[in-house]
Amino acid sequence: MGQLGYNLFLIGFMGSGKSTLAAHLGKRFGMEIIEMDQWISKREGMSISEIFDKHGEEYFRNLETNLLKEAQEKKNTVVSCGGGVPMREENVIEMKKSGKVVLLKASPETIYERVKDNHDRPLLENNKSVSYIAHLMEQRREKYEAAADIALLTDGKTIAKIGDELIEKLMPADSQKERQI
Ligand code: S3P
Repeated sequence: MGQLGYNLFLIGFMGSGKSTLAAHLGKRFGMEIIEMDQWISKREGMSISEIFDKHGEEYFRNLETNLLKEAQEKKNTVVSCGGGVPMREENVIEMKKSGKVVLLKASPETIYERVKDNHDRPLLENNKSVSYIAHLMEQRREKYEAAADIALLTDGKTIAKIGDELIEKLMPADSQKERQI
């Protein structure tokens, strides 16, 4: 895959593998990576949990929207979005202005295993169970699916396999676009 003239926005539930896939695409295709949580935390000089505690969730959500707007100046960049990003309609519009939205799906059990030892996810901090994850995932499902241009199932797959599936799904979309021109 050569340089992309657009960006890829990875969306999905916390622990669905967005950061891991972003790192893989960065390494394999030399794409620039924006890790949203990391950027926000660095800029604000505090962890995501501290931002929620000190300023509240709305403040954090506004930072996310601002960062998506900044990303529009880039191309060939993979943006690993926070899990809440697709819940704001405005965010979906902003992502589509400069790129394609890729949804990573994983089962609540897989997610639980990946997030259980992490303590910088305020929404899960006192709710770490498969049943709560399943509940929140269900609440988000419709918006996640509606935002996605491409969806990938990740359970039981290696990151290399997920990367390959993404490329396969991207390429026909690209050549279709060319045919339309
Ligand atoms: C959130 C997901 C987190 C982080 C914040 C809120 C969410 O990002 O942005 O804790 O609402 O799903 P990850 O999906 O990278 O864990």
